Amino acid sequence: FEGYDLVVVGSGLFGLTIAERTATELDKRVLVLERRDHHGGNAYSEVDPDTGIEVHRYGPHIFHTSNERIWAYVNRFTAFTGYRHKAFTLYQGQVYPLPVNLATICQFFGRYLTPDEARALIAEQAAEIGQLPPDPSHEEKGISLVGRPLYDAFFRGYTAKQWQTDPKELPGSVIARLPVRFDFNNRYFNDTYEGLPVDGYTAWLSRMAADPRIDLRLNTDFFELADAIPDGTPVVYTGPLDRYFRYRGGRLGWRTLDFEREVAPVRDYQGTTTINYAEESVPFTRNVEYRHMHPERSYRSDRTVLVREYSRSAGDQDEPYYPINTAGDRDALRTYRMLARQETAERNVLFGGRLGTYQYLDMHMAIGSALAMFENRIVPYFRDRRPLG
Ligand code: FDA
Repeated sequence: FEGYDLVVVGSGLFGLTIAERTATELDKRVLVLERRDHHGGNAYSEVDPDTGIEVHRYGPHIFHTSNERIWAYVNRFTAFTGYRHKAFTLYQGQVYPLPVNLATICQFFGRYLTPDEARALIAEQAAEIGQLPPDPSHEEKGISLVGRPLYDAFFRGYTAKQWQTDPKELPGSVIARLPVRFDFNNRYFNDTYEGLPVDGYTAWLSRMAADPRIDLRLNTDFFELADAIPDGTPVVYTGPLDRYFRYRGGRLGWRTLDFEREVAPVRDYQGTTTINYAEESVPFTRNVEYRHMHPERSYRSDRTVLVREYSRSAGDQDEPYYPINTAGDRDALRTYRMLARQETAERNVLFGGRLGTYQYLDMHMAIGSALAMFENRIVPYFRDRRPLG
């Protein structure tokens, strides 16, 4: 591994952004190590062999941002379709639009309500909670936001399935904000820009890694060859933070997802991309029908592919998806942040991305934080010989 100016561990959007910027802006040679057999991290997608439909291997990914710089940056590598995500939830045989909006409220209560009437009704139903305690439970916080009837229908069972914990036992911070709209806007995201890469995620991610100054090695675990990297070579590490330090501060908790794929012999199985299943008696949380992400494509019409998601706490061998963030996790994270600062100062290792910082990051956030690391740490290091730490 001689001759590289920078080593990037992980080829997700964070790692690829760092690699692309460092190679093209600073004319440096970058080695990207990726444990999996493909690049792109969790944004990776592939063509389903039975239907020809593009499926996102690690769950549905829709790009959205309101940040002009991030939007301009990603548009260098791909154009985006005009896809606007809408989601629905199934409860007692009825389908309702999400996030909760005026249409959801009117349908649920069986009559038309003006925005003011709906607001007054929800406020009245939320009033049972009164003054929220300093550390409200998920249930208390949820009811204070949407009232008990909507909370019980759409959030209680769904949350219990997601976390495998009674929502009374979960912290309110899990739903810092349950969006409730008192108009008929049923778009899932509020951002200025939204869409899907016109020719798929893999084409986008491949263009980010295309510069000849970037060497991408797949099926390569950093920990198996860390000793072969010359001392002092700067490293940007985007793998799990606790793994880097051999779990010496304890294991950080994650939720994982199990995906169950089904090919159905119909053109259109559910009429939309995602339907949540609100009831606890249905074991999966949602069903995703990928053909609806690309109505502009001419997919075959005799079959469709569906992916059902089941949520559970991650074991050692599982893919980590969502940080759990218990009080114990937060204590461990403090220890790891301190160790990470030391590692940056002593060994030129920077930590980034969702795994390397133990945070849920949307794609635009992963890209935005990588651009910030590039400008604030990597450019000064190479141009002005400033230390990374
Ligand atoms: P990411 O996890 O993608 O990449 C890290 C890479 O490091 C992986 O490829 C891993 O294999 C590699 N690695 C780890 N350890 C290693 C080692 N020791 N050696 C070598 N390689 C190693 N966002 C959004 O904007 N819109 C959306 O709709 C969604 N939807 C969505 C659904 C689901 C189910 C999840 C879990 C997440 C989303 N996201 C999302 C978030 C999105 O997935 C996230 O923003 C990016 O994956 C973050 O990119 P990173 O590079 O940080 O991590």
